[in-house]
Amino acid sequence: MMGWGQWWRGVGAAGNPGLVRVLVTIGCLLGPGSASAEAETAGQATYGAQCAMCHGELGKGDGPAAAMLNPKPKDLSAPDFWTGRTEESVAEIVRQGKAGSAMMGYQSVLTAEQIRDVVTYLRSLARP
Ligand code: HEC
Repeated sequence: MMGWGQWWRGVGAAGNPGLVRVLVTIGCLLGPGSASAEAETAGQATYGAQCAMCHGELGKGDGPAAAMLNPKPKDLSAPDFWTGRTEESVAEIVRQGKAGSAMMGYQSVLTAEQIRDVVTYLRSLARP
C-alpha cells in the first residue's frame, strides 16, 4: 500500500494539487454514498492533467496535441467503445500503454487508485 505522502506527490505530478484537493473536499462534503461520484471527480482531475491534451476534455479525441498524432486517439466517449471492453481491460491499457501509438503506459506515473478513478471517469463519458 502506498503512503499518503507518495500519493500526494503523484497528484502533484498530475499538475494541479490545489484543484484536486478542492474537488476531493467537495466529494467528501457530498457525504457517504457518493464514493463513485468522488472517484469520478478525482478521475476527471487526473484526466484533465494527463490525458486531455491528446484525448480531449470529453474523450472525443480532439485534444490540442491530437492533430500531430498518427494514429489519432479514437473517440473514447462513443457508447460502443465499451463493447467487448471492461474497466479492467481499459485500466490495463492505461497501465501498459498501446504499442505503435503515442499512448504510453502510466504505471509509473499514476497510482493504481488514480488509474482506477480515471477509468471511472472514462466510463462516465460514454454513458448515454
Ligand atoms: C500523447 C498523447 C496521449 C496521451 C497524453 C494519452 N493518450 Fe491515450 N492514446 C493516445 C493514442 C494516440 C492512442 C491510440 C489510438 C487509440 O486507440 O485511441 C491512445 C489510446 C488510448 C486508449 C485505448 C483505446 C483502445 O484502443 O482501447 C485508452 C483507454 C487511453 N488512450 C486512455 C488514456 C488515458 C486514461 C490517458 C491519461 C492517463 C491517456 N490515454 C493519455 C494518445 C494519448
